[in-house]
Amino acid sequence: MSRGRPIMKSLYRSKRTIALRPARLYDNAIAMPALTFRICALIFAAGALLAQHAFSENDIEDGGRLYEANCSRCHGAEGNLVTGVDFARDKFLRASTDQDLVRVIRMGIPAAGMPPGKYSDFTAETIVAYLRSMGRAGVNNTPLGDPVRGRSLFEGKGGCLNCHRVNGNGSRLGPDLSDIGALRRVTGQLKRSILEPDAEILPANRFVRLVTKDGATINGRLMNQDTFSVQLLDSKEQLVSILRSNLREFTFAEKSPMPSYRDKLSSQEIDDILGYLVSLKGL
Ligand code: HEC
Ligand code: HEC
Repeated sequence: MSRGRPIMKSLYRSKRTIALRPARLYDNAIAMPALTFRICALIFAAGALLAQHAFSENDIEDGGRLYEANCSRCHGAEGNLVTGVDFARDKFLRASTDQDLVRVIRMGIPAAGMPPGKYSDFTAETIVAYLRSMGRAGVNNTPLGDPVRGRSLFEGKGGCLNCHRVNGNGSRLGPDLSDIGALRRVTGQLKRSILEPDAEILPANRFVRLVTKDGATINGRLMNQDTFSVQLLDSKEQLVSILRSNLREFTFAEKSPMPSYRDKLSSQEIDDILGYLVSLKGL
């Protein structure tokens, strides 16, 4: 849950420490005939991919962020811009196991223009987990419906604008979704936000319940707090600031104010809304 800080740190570290190192193993590898590699790759692909760690969706998101910061400029957001390589379809030139991919990510393929990166095993594995997720849950395989229908569901039947804001339209009660498609690359996770809003509430989206000394209850989104006071956005979108000395209770809400849409929308309608959300990449 409170992984926000470590994520930022690892991003920062990875950006700073990428340095060119010779990758001898790959220099040799490249000299071998490509056909041999294809055959090897096929044989390996038939074997099970060794999943040594179970990765949480958070880990995969971390991997996704590192991917965006360090890889997408060459490989593209959808992982298919380098010829012969398409992450979402598990298509590689020679790597096939997760270990191969970790090695490529750490050593690079300097002769072919892919830089090495100083990642720990675990960090490199989260990137691999993300690459694998691109095919499974990501851009190409999750059924994404029609974004135009999705938009009208979002604004109409779904009532999403009652709590969310998109490009200046709607309410500030819930998070602004104007660039949600760029922020959350794991589409499965977006879908879960709609079906099971309580499953994961990001720290930035915490809701609190305050009870003042004279017995009034205020629910709202926590905007800020310091030693003396608490600021929140109440259900009428008013910014409320209260002195802690006036409070009897301060609790984080366990449940999201957002209702589950599992029974409210058909799965086609959810897919359409997902198609719309994925298209929201900010202005
Ligand atoms: C400067 C451009 C560039 C960057 C940045 C880059 N790559 Fe690559 N990558 C390439 C090129 C070019 C190839 C194809 C190499 C070849 O032809 O063998 C490649 C190949 C790969 C392969 C395929 C290996 C195979 O056997 O087919 C993987 C996996 C990969 N990159 C992952 C990544 C990841 C993950 C990152 C970020 C941490 C990254 N790359 C960053 C250019 C880049
Ligand atoms: C009653 C208010 C309310 C309504 C209606 C509502 N949401 Fe939410 N939504 C929230 C709140 C509050 C959060 C933040 C807490 C959480 O993560 O559950 C949230 C979180 C989300 C997130 C996760 C945001 C993130 O940063 O990852 C998505 C995606 C989302 N809502 C989509 C929708 C869609 C699509 C609809 C309409 C079908 C909808 N919401 C309707 C209040 C609402």
